[in-house]
Amino acid sequence: MKHTITLIPGDGIGPEVASTVVRIIEAAGVEVAWETHYAGAQALEKFGTTLPPELLESIKRNKVALKGPITTPIGKGFTSVNVGLRKALDLYANLRPIRALPNVPCRYPELNLVIVRENTESLYAGLEHVVVPGVVESLKIITEKASTRIARYAFEYSRREGRKKITCGHKANIMKLSDGLFLDCFRKVATEYPEIEADDKIIDNACMQLVMRPEQFDVMLLENLYGDIVSDLCAGLIGGLGLVPGANIGELGAVFEAVHGSAPDIAGQGIANPTALLQSGILMLRYLDEREAAERTEKAMLNVFAEGKVRTRDIGGTARTSEFADAIISKMK
Ligand code: NAI
Repeated sequence: MKHTITLIPGDGIGPEVASTVVRIIEAAGVEVAWETHYAGAQALEKFGTTLPPELLESIKRNKVALKGPITTPIGKGFTSVNVGLRKALDLYANLRPIRALPNVPCRYPELNLVIVRENTESLYAGLEHVVVPGVVESLKIITEKASTRIARYAFEYSRREGRKKITCGHKANIMKLSDGLFLDCFRKVATEYPEIEADDKIIDNACMQLVMRPEQFDVMLLENLYGDIVSDLCAGLIGGLGLVPGANIGELGAVFEAVHGSAPDIAGQGIANPTALLQSGILMLRYLDEREAAERTEKAMLNVFAEGKVRTRDIGGTARTSEFADAIISKMK
């Protein structure tokens, strides 16, 4: 086998969309040995921990993982496996390309922007404690090191992909120290990349501008919590959560995953849209330098969308997950 990839099927619709993507990648002719590992509630039941050491070792060894969504209990229970995984492997850059697909009903069919989200700090790190009963404190940690590292990642990415402008979203008018530091680091790094326009916007205004005139954005650089919220907003601009891919990248490896969650409301019915995880799989193929297979898979997927005959329910069709996969695979033959 040419590649060994860690596979985390996940919860809810995770196993359905993950097995579909595995089938499509194999049909594209990429030789992969998949090492399947469990995380979250399934792992807790089997191994007594939500993030088994074998899983982390597998990703460190293989340097790459494909991951389905994992259910996180709200307000109680174990802490997020996604956050744990990003911390344990220092996957500091979260990349979310937002591109409209042909024939998908959406507000902005021409939209093509990329969100670069800092993945390790800010309120999203979930550092919280009870000060006294009835009072909790949640810590927003922002460091110069992490802010500089993610800004540099955004500029390097933009240079490599021929992107022209980066907009840093922040609330430095109110959080002068924390968001102020994030913005300062962005501005400092920007001086090293004069060919790329460096812009910034206060995050609430940026959200309104995204809804009204999203074409003004090219790459958006955001701290962790803003990035989490804005990437779902952007998914909505192009037709929903079932479509948008994501990659978590660090020096030790990369984990490719969909932006959506485990969708418990439709789990087990065979109707989930696998496009988001498939697009993450395509990003993964490029990361593995399987460019030809990535192009072939992407072209087949775009053809199926362009024809508009086979579409899953979330985007107005009637096709089941497997029928959608069959249509893509038949285009690759
Ligand atoms: P969700 O993304 O699971 O679902 C929101 C809505 O979008 C639902 O109506 C669902 O049916 C629909 N949807 C999502 N993905 C779809 C797909 N591929 N095809 C068709 N429809 C799709 O968000 P929700 O309900 O807030 O979260 C459910 C669980 O997922 C929670 O436990 C949450 O913590 C977890 N989650 C995990 C993530 C991850 O592992 N990366 C990311 C986001 C949420």
